[in-house]
Amino acid sequence: MSYRIFNRPDRFAEGWYWALDAAALARGGVAKLNLLGRDLALYRGEDGKVAALDAFCPHMGAHLGEGNVDGCRLRCLFHDWAYEPDGRCSDAPGAAGGVPPSSARTSSWPVTEAYGLIWVWTGPEARRPAPFVPELGDEDADWSHGSSFVKDCHPNVVMINAIDAHHFNTVHHLPVKLEMEPRTRNENNIEFANTTTVPTTSLLGRLIAPFYHDALTYWMSYWYGSTGTVTLGPDFLHFHILFALRAAEGGKTEGRTVLVTRKRAGLHGWALNRVLLALTNLVGSYFAHGDTKIFRSIKFDLKTPLAADRPILRFIEHLEKQAVSPWCRPVEPAREPAEA
Ligand code: FES
Ligand SMILES: [Fe+2]
Repeated sequence: MSYRIFNRPDRFAEGWYWALDAAALARGGVAKLNLLGRDLALYRGEDGKVAALDAFCPHMGAHLGEGNVDGCRLRCLFHDWAYEPDGRCSDAPGAAGGVPPSSARTSSWPVTEAYGLIWVWTGPEARRPAPFVPELGDEDADWSHGSSFVKDCHPNVVMINAIDAHHFNTVHHLPVKLEMEPRTRNENNIEFANTTTVPTTSLLGRLIAPFYHDALTYWMSYWYGSTGTVTLGPDFLHFHILFALRAAEGGKTEGRTVLVTRKRAGLHGWALNRVLLALTNLVGSYFAHGDTKIFRSIKFDLKTPLAADRPILRFIEHLEKQAVSPWCRPVEPAREPAEA
């Protein structure tokens, strides 16, 4: 079955996508990046702000990611034209009177930073804040980076794994029966929350049950279909794992995990958070490894859905309603050579 957005190599929803580690781009730094098939030049100006420009210089096509930062502008390495963060050329050495031609402009895309990552919005105007852990809202969060990985299938397929309740028994051997109830936050975010209580048929279940007042906490909150946050843990201590994924060449997925917890005051709070984040990383790694063989060879096609697969169908339905990124439009037709 073919969808409008879900599991397509050529389409993705408009939204925030993880681009780079924030630490990889110091002040005055420049990076070349192919994000979702689009060539970008990212740079951090001397004011500390990051800009993302379409990569190829409107003069002669040099990659602006080879250029140099000049204050808050990016200068092309080839003939030194300077581009502002909004993509406008403000200095064109060699042009008559140094005045840039009106067509000397490249596209600029919204950029933000969150959880130590640089995110780029795949459309002209960002309509929402960067993905966040809903339970923490805009509270200060403490975080550390977990693993970087590549999977051999589409990011949407990796993402739905988190709400495939049955596979927690078959692949991850967990003695739980999860039922994921959807709740929609906005048109770009849907969350699934488990509604079943901790089973007390095993010793582990009996030990942890007193720490869960109601249902066994396991929530998955999706942003734009390729980024999600998992929340789990006893009532007094929730762990959060952010999965930031994006489609890469060859039908693959590139991903990062970020471990997140609420900020705790003082040195003691800082030290406690280091331990909690390390524990969260162990949990994340356990789940990430279990599915490796599945992702290596799956040709996803939900031809025979069961009642237990309803959350997956609900996720697909949610994703299908989102706006397709304008980056996915077909390439422009050929044009006449420009006159000098
Ligand atoms: S190609 Fe960029 S200034 Fe000439
Ligand atoms: Fe899994």
